Order: sequence, then C-alpha cells, then structure tokens
Amino acid sequence: MVEISTSLLSVKKDNIIKAIYNLETAKTDYFHIDVMDGIFVEQDTTEKMIEYCDYLSNITNIPLDVHLMVSDVKKYIDMFLPYNPNIITIHYEAIKDKNELLDTLDYIKLNNCKAGISIKPDTDITEILEILENVHVVLVMTVEPGQGGQELIQTVLNKINNLSMYVKEKNLDVLIEADGGININNVEDVKEAGAEIIVSGTAIINSDNYSDVIKKMKTP
Ligand code: DX5
Ligand code: ZN
Repeated sequence: MVEISTSLLSVKKDNIIKAIYNLETAKTDYFHIDVMDGIFVEQDTTEKMIEYCDYLSNITNIPLDVHLMVSDVKKYIDMFLPYNPNIITIHYEAIKDKNELLDTLDYIKLNNCKAGISIKPDTDITEILEILENVHVVLVMTVEPGQGGQELIQTVLNKINNLSMYVKEKNLDVLIEADGGININNVEDVKEAGAEIIVSGTAIINSDNYSDVIKKMKTP
C-alpha cells in the first residue's frame, strides 16, 4: 500500500494547528515540508516552514518529509536537522558536482536521517542512476517545483515507470516518491507508474474530509 505525505505548503498560518490535528486523525503517513529559498525557486517559504516545524515538533510524532528547494543546501540541512526529520530530500539540480552531491547525501545520513534526491520534470533519470545506491528516496517532481496547486505533468509518469523498472531490475533499496498536482483522479496512474510515496497538498487540504481523500489515495 502506498504512503501519503501531505504537503503543508497551502495551509494558511491561522489554520495550521487545526490542520495538523486533523491530518494526524486522518492518518497521513508523513508531513511534507516544502522549503523554498527564493533563489532556487521564486517563493521563499523558509520562515513559514520553520514555524510549522515548531508546531509539528510540539504536536505530533508523525514523521517529517523535508523537501529542500534551495541553492545553499548545507545551510538548509542544518536549519531543519533539529526537527529530526525522517527524510531530507535535496535537488539534483542544486549540486552539479558529483562528489559534493555524494558528500551532502552522506552528511544527511550521518545525521541520522534518510537521504532523498529530487529531480525536476525536465531532468532525466539517467542523470541520477549512478547515485541511486547512495539514497533512500527519489522524489520525482510531477510539476515544476515552486508552488502548490499546479496540474500534474502527465509525461513524467513514463519517467517514474522507467525509474521503477530500473530499481526493480537492479534490486535497489530505493523508494520512489511523486510530488505535485496529485489528486484522487490521477493518483491511480501515479501508483501504476510505480510511486510508493505520494505527496499531495491542495487535493487534501482543500477537501472537506482529509481522511476520506487520504483513504481513497491509499486504497489500491
Ligand atoms: C511544489 C512542492 C509540492 C507541492 C504539492 O514545489 O514541492 O510539494 O506543494 O502540492 P500540490 O499537491 O498542491 O501540487
Ligand atoms: Zn514538495
């Protein structure tokens, strides 16, 4: 059964505490923390995501799935490690040098956290095949990173499928996570393609019944 990682990006500050409680009751498997620095992507959500992580650390034990859409990767890893995230995912496009990328992934793991690599819609999986044994999760962006509420880019499903076949063929211990524009109408296609963790923001947050949507997304 897939796991659901609910993005808090679209939750308004005056509703965050209630949303956390309701998502915990609705049994989200992770809270997806979308950290944007205003450089790697246009929006800057740093202050909001720090505030939300402060609330989360006082309210719930549900694991944090931190998605860093930032250029100064190490600075932001250090900023979010204190919240003991379960996963910290960095963007392949943020660190071009392979050795620096591997060192950064090791740094995440040495700090007792699973390491994820994320690729934008236009980045081919061939760019990351050689580092798959160094990560726990591949976060495949099904929208251009930078904001919630976008339409899923259908062509990325082929990429997820190709990656899934490669991981199975090589018997790699890597989870595939899909992120962006996923709702109850297209989630089956995303699961069919091979995603094992589903990130969803607006489709859950804008619904009037979180647990209904999460249950529908999880049910095979
Ligand atoms: C986009 C973020 C996604 C997004 C998901 O840059 O990485 O996590 O917030 O939200 P929806 O499900 O609304 O696309
Ligand atoms: Zn995300």
